[in-house]
Amino acid sequence: MNVRSVLYAILIGALMLSLVGCTTVAPAAPAAEAPAGDQAAAPAAEMAGKTFEDLVVGYAQIGAESEWRTANTQSIKAEAERLGVELKFSDAQQKQENQIKAIRSFIAQQVDVIGVSPVVETGWETVFQEAKDAGIPLILVDRRAAVPEELYVTYLGSDFVEEGRRAGQAMADILGGEGKIVELVGTVGSAPANDRYSGFREAITEYPGMEIIASQSGDFTRAKGKEVMEAFLKSYGDEIDALYAHNDDMAIGAIQAIEEYGLKPGEDIKIVSVDAVRGAFEAMIEGKLNCTVECNPLLGPQFFDLALKVVNGEEVAKWVPSEEGVYFPEQAAELLPTRQY
Ligand code: AHR
Repeated sequence: MNVRSVLYAILIGALMLSLVGCTTVAPAAPAAEAPAGDQAAAPAAEMAGKTFEDLVVGYAQIGAESEWRTANTQSIKAEAERLGVELKFSDAQQKQENQIKAIRSFIAQQVDVIGVSPVVETGWETVFQEAKDAGIPLILVDRRAAVPEELYVTYLGSDFVEEGRRAGQAMADILGGEGKIVELVGTVGSAPANDRYSGFREAITEYPGMEIIASQSGDFTRAKGKEVMEAFLKSYGDEIDALYAHNDDMAIGAIQAIEEYGLKPGEDIKIVSVDAVRGAFEAMIEGKLNCTVECNPLLGPQFFDLALKVVNGEEVAKWVPSEEGVYFPEQAAELLPTRQY
């Protein structure tokens, strides 16, 4: 054996030793932790299983347009604190461009998961694709977006069409199947506005005596709800039998407009709205609101539970729906003390 052969032999021996070393120190994949397909793709750090304290989550909230939204934000923040999750929270002040900026900044900061409640349904494909390309899972919370399913991991939130149907059925019962209705629509182009609009119509088609005589957006706010109701009253006056409001805040604003006009909300004009916030229960106790259909904002616990599952490669359902009820004045006084929002 010449000198060159000896050197080759030493080199090959060292290489083999280092390979043996690698196989013995590499962590074994825990068989029960994730589906086989995900295990193959998941890096070793994820295979070890992250905890809530390891999680960095970016959350792109819409704003603070309603009592509902305030409760929703509070639920997300409180749960992050309780679990020890590092939360990067952004309030977009009702602007889609601000939500898009927030998502891009979360991508740049390489968060583990992004949560977003899309203010409107369309216009998200590009930025969601950017998150996907960066390998950051995205969870839709509260509102859906009109994007291909592969651009988000799951949607956590309500069935807004069903809420619209429930409101329509309640209205039909309250009016005895007959009456002229005005409608305060939510934010134009948003999932709850689109779906509550169609669900309500679906439910009242079987009542030919019910007619929607005017429909306009109040942007989910009290101020706008009041302003648009004033305009409805100016045009239709006491021709109006009922108001359907896509959220309680607009209904509460409209109640003020109806009183200022000299009519009795809840009696002269029947009112059905959506959300079931405390303000709606108070209005029902005062006899000014006839029904509220629940939309649950307390999504914090389920959101972080899903976020952790997703980063650990566990499978989650494509839609995790919230459980919700319908409330009438007769139950309002008893239930108000139990309401959390
Ligand atoms: O997306 C949920 C809706 O958004 C609530 O019904 C409304 O109050 C809020 O602004």
